[in-house]
Amino acid sequence: MKALVCRQFGPIENLAVEEIDPPRPGPGQVLVDVKASSLNFPDALMVQGLYQVKPPLPFSPGHEIAGVIEKLGEGVLGVAVGDAVIATPGVGGLAEQCVVARERITPLPAGMDFATASAFLLTYCTTLHALEDCGRLRSGESLLVLGAAGAVGTAAIEIGKALGARVIAAASSEEKLALCRDLGADETIDYVREDLRKRALELTGGKGVDVVYDPVGGALTEAALRASAWGGRLLVIGFASGEIPAIRLNLALLKERSIVGVYWGEWTRQDPAGQKRNVERLGELYAAGKVKPVVSERIRLAEVPAALVRMQKRQVKGKIVVVPEH
Ligand SMILES: NC(=O)c1ccc[n+]([C@@H]2O[C@H](COP(=O)([O-])OP(=O)(O)OC[C@H]3O[C@@H](n4cnc5c(N)ncnc54)[C@H](OP(=O)(O)O)[C@@H]3O)[C@@H](O)[C@H]2O)c1
Repeated sequence: MKALVCRQFGPIENLAVEEIDPPRPGPGQVLVDVKASSLNFPDALMVQGLYQVKPPLPFSPGHEIAGVIEKLGEGVLGVAVGDAVIATPGVGGLAEQCVVARERITPLPAGMDFATASAFLLTYCTTLHALEDCGRLRSGESLLVLGAAGAVGTAAIEIGKALGARVIAAASSEEKLALCRDLGADETIDYVREDLRKRALELTGGKGVDVVYDPVGGALTEAALRASAWGGRLLVIGFASGEIPAIRLNLALLKERSIVGVYWGEWTRQDPAGQKRNVERLGELYAAGKVKPVVSERIRLAEVPAALVRMQKRQVKGKIVVVPEH
């Protein structure tokens, strides 16, 4: 089978499509015939050796896929060969076939095509978990989303609106903000040309925002925290800017603000029942037309290195889906 292979940690451009033996499912695993996979920011970090998880070399990157079960490993229950599924293997998804642990598999939601499905689980589950379980976002509250035209950012706009929040989307260009408005954002801030803190305070009549969704980090984090209200919650999603901010805790004390870390992948292991509940909720929101991943590009495996480089240059909107050649 064809797979994108990382032979050593280093520049993204070193990734290459190779012909390799298909993996075999071990006990508790299934083999999935990949119909579509999607790119995530951590894929770019992982192949450079910059991610918290460093798989043994060589490996194929690829966090999430949609496809059809081709083989069952020993002791696998509750799924069958031929089932259409979504899966989050963590690695190995950028290939024609991929081995996944049974517990990382979810049935394909009714009416969802493979490309949409491959772009759904990681970003939307992260975001629902962040906004509801971690951020306690309530209807009528305001939500400031940073990096709002990115993969998790676009999901935060849609889920924020579905939960009844007033969504303020912040991003780096007018083109990105136009996408945010199309997705339902009530207000937008261009944080390259405008002062994020000042504008967020203006847009909330001086009160500040109730919840900040922050996948970007760097200097924007403190500006956003300073623009949050009494009892505000800052959700720490990630550091796409490459800079982990250091925050003075008086900013939390002065307005009883909370700084809440979000680590969806680990949470699914800590609380599988909560994850199952959230997947069901997301299936309902999808069926009701309230959420739908923004698939901005469909590419082939060989085009992945260039796409990951563009992702690191802030040139990607929503999600890129990879369709294997077979
Ligand atoms: N905590 C969790 O459980 C969890 C789960 C999924 C993802 N994440 C993290 O969330 C972050 C975003 O992931 P994503 O898949 O949404 O990525 P993405 O689609 O590339 O979006 C990231 C956004 O960050 C902004 N950005 C600012 N500086 C950047 C830089 N130097 N390089 C790249 N982007 C920059 C860009 O928006 P502007 O150009 O508009 O600024 C970009 O749209 C990553 O750090 C990822 O690891 C965390």
